[in-house]
Amino acid sequence: MIGSRKLDHLKICREMDVEYRDKTTLLEDVQLVHQALAGLSFDDIRTETIFMGRKLKAPILITAMSGGVSEAGSLNLDLARAAQALGIGFCLGSQRPMLEDAAASSSYQVRAAAPDIPIVGNIGIQQAAQSDPDKVARLVSAVEADGLAVHLNPAQELSQPEGDRVFPEPAAVLKALSRRLPGRLLVKETGCGISREAALKIRAAGVRVVDVAGAGGTSWPWVEKLRKGAKPQKRAWLDEWGISTGASVLETRGLGLQVVASGGVRNGLDAAKCLALGADLVGMALPVLRSHAAGGCEGVVAFLSGVITELKTAMLLCGARDLKTLAGTEPVITGKLSEWKNLRRKKSRIRR
Ligand SMILES: Cc1cc2nc3c(=O)[nH]c(=O)nc-3n(C[C@H](O)[C@H](O)[C@H](O)COP(=O)(O)O)c2cc1C
Repeated sequence: MIGSRKLDHLKICREMDVEYRDKTTLLEDVQLVHQALAGLSFDDIRTETIFMGRKLKAPILITAMSGGVSEAGSLNLDLARAAQALGIGFCLGSQRPMLEDAAASSSYQVRAAAPDIPIVGNIGIQQAAQSDPDKVARLVSAVEADGLAVHLNPAQELSQPEGDRVFPEPAAVLKALSRRLPGRLLVKETGCGISREAALKIRAAGVRVVDVAGAGGTSWPWVEKLRKGAKPQKRAWLDEWGISTGASVLETRGLGLQVVASGGVRNGLDAAKCLALGADLVGMALPVLRSHAAGGCEGVVAFLSGVITELKTAMLLCGARDLKTLAGTEPVITGKLSEWKNLRRKKSRIRR
């Protein structure tokens, strides 16, 4: 049952129009300021960073997608190999099948193919809340990962007639897990973003890393409806729900959390904008899946090498030799993102 669902998700995401239609990331409202006299050479640009205790060559993660079905094993291996070749991070898809049957771990075993990069496990908050925290924490060691991502997906659940309707307060489960995995627990959305209020709860539970997975990229309520045979004209408000990725970065920055910006990040300029807005890393799922469908492991390496080159190009053009300088460049924020920032600054004290 979970396996056939995962296969459907992979197929639908490869073949159909699964992204938000009207809502965007709002990254179009962010302009990096061009510096014609930066005095830098391309080879000067440094993009190294640290994530989950390991060094990355570029601040990029392949975010969670796959696991638990045989097809997922070869996909995960290809993605992990690509991440290893590029020196970026790799996140496994939901390990729920492993909670139900420890023998289901084979499609998640990628460490031998990616010995040097951070690998992050994955479980839904609902499954984590219903399981013994020691067992959940063991999902990390069982696949030689460096940390665990706990995903939140209430809109996706509510979009399915058979989905969850009860969403328990997460503090207890997150605290239990962060005690067992200190500094190695990440909380992520799956496309609807993280608000400042949610980020404060996450921080209070002892979690130090958050992936906003905001709106503007893959819409999971819509993927679920496509799975039930919905026609493209049948889009409704729930399929467009969520905090745009750019806005979610503004919401979560400045709280002492390591922030991953994802959800609709599609190229190196998007990445540079997120990093200038205050994110520490960026993540991508859908475009990586599609570059894999088009060209296997090499297709992923080619796509993500292009993203890294674009990121470095944008950094040079706004005079940022390294990620710290990029974070201090103060991009110009206009339009809807500026409105969001101003209105939410009054309400919930988002920074700047
Ligand atoms: C095929 C596919 C499967 C996914 N499976 C998972 C999953 O198992 N666990 C999870 O936390 N997120 C999962 N996601 C969500 C992504 O990690 C990401 O948060 C979301 O798709 C937004 O990023 P994007 O716009 O780059 O796709 C999946 C995404 C895709 C495309």
